[in-house]
Amino acid sequence: MGVVRHLRQVDADATGVDIAFRADVHAGLSQRPKAVPARWFYDATGSALFEDITALPEYYPTRSETDLLTRHAAEIAAAIGPGRAVVELGSGSSTKTPLLIEAIDPAAYVPVDISGDFLRDSAEALATQFPGLAIYPVEADFTQRVDLPREICPLPKLGFFPGSTIGNMVARTAIDLLRGWRATLGDGSLMLIGVDRIKDIAILERAYDDPAGVTAAFNLNLLERINRELGGTIPVENFSHRAIWNDVHARIEMHLVAACDMDFTVDGRTYSMAKGETIHSENSHKYGPRDANLLLRAGGWTPVATWDDADPAFALILAEATEFRSAP
Ligand code: AVI
Repeated sequence: MGVVRHLRQVDADATGVDIAFRADVHAGLSQRPKAVPARWFYDATGSALFEDITALPEYYPTRSETDLLTRHAAEIAAAIGPGRAVVELGSGSSTKTPLLIEAIDPAAYVPVDISGDFLRDSAEALATQFPGLAIYPVEADFTQRVDLPREICPLPKLGFFPGSTIGNMVARTAIDLLRGWRATLGDGSLMLIGVDRIKDIAILERAYDDPAGVTAAFNLNLLERINRELGGTIPVENFSHRAIWNDVHARIEMHLVAACDMDFTVDGRTYSMAKGETIHSENSHKYGPRDANLLLRAGGWTPVATWDDADPAFALILAEATEFRSAP
């Protein structure tokens, strides 16, 4: 079967720049405090840097999740069953996907990712590894409404949302996303989701501020991308990376900190920053077991099984799109 059809659902302008990127950058730089949504990290450079992050000794989530998928493959397979269409949200390089495909023997695989080049390459690699599997890559922003390929319509679905990417959304956005995907995947579908747990602050801060500076480069690439794609004049060398734990929100925050007062332009529009002011570039929320289950329920998904890694704590949760029942 291999790669059957590549669907593209991205609105780009005449220069090929994503219209939503331009809008988000201007809105985010105009507000106080400044903030640009983390989803714009993932151009080709940012996606490659993220892959480097996942190999860092300090960045435990990828290793913990891979370990859970490997150790509990048989139980996961028994809970999910064969013949589903796996729809992966933010598939990136699909590194964990082969473990899942081997375990559950799906009927089709639909990787959804905003980074077209990355999506194409990883879909080709998977097609070589699983020649009998029908693969339908969808180039789209999975935080927005996505139209699934019609070929998978009759199949039972499994949403696969690994890597604790749900943590990159504030609760309200996370719940909107879960509800949206519940509607897209339909009644009776399942969702296998990776959730990072709250843990020792030093472990968390090191995971997001590694001594090799890879996460710093990942964060700063957001500014480079604005310069590259939106004709920006941001003096990137005058910014530094900061990762801090926010205990009130139970999240790691990443910021880009201005080293001095400065003016720069984006698309010809001028923005000013004062020394010490930051652009908030990412939240990475961490969840205790009850918090995670509540989030899923609020999004229309009923948790049915959890596989937990103790050290450092990380969880894979399987949830089901059950019918809503009135309850007192
Ligand atoms: C993609 N996401 C789950 C990563 C995280 O851990 O929040 C992104 C990341 N940011 C810095 N390091 C990794």
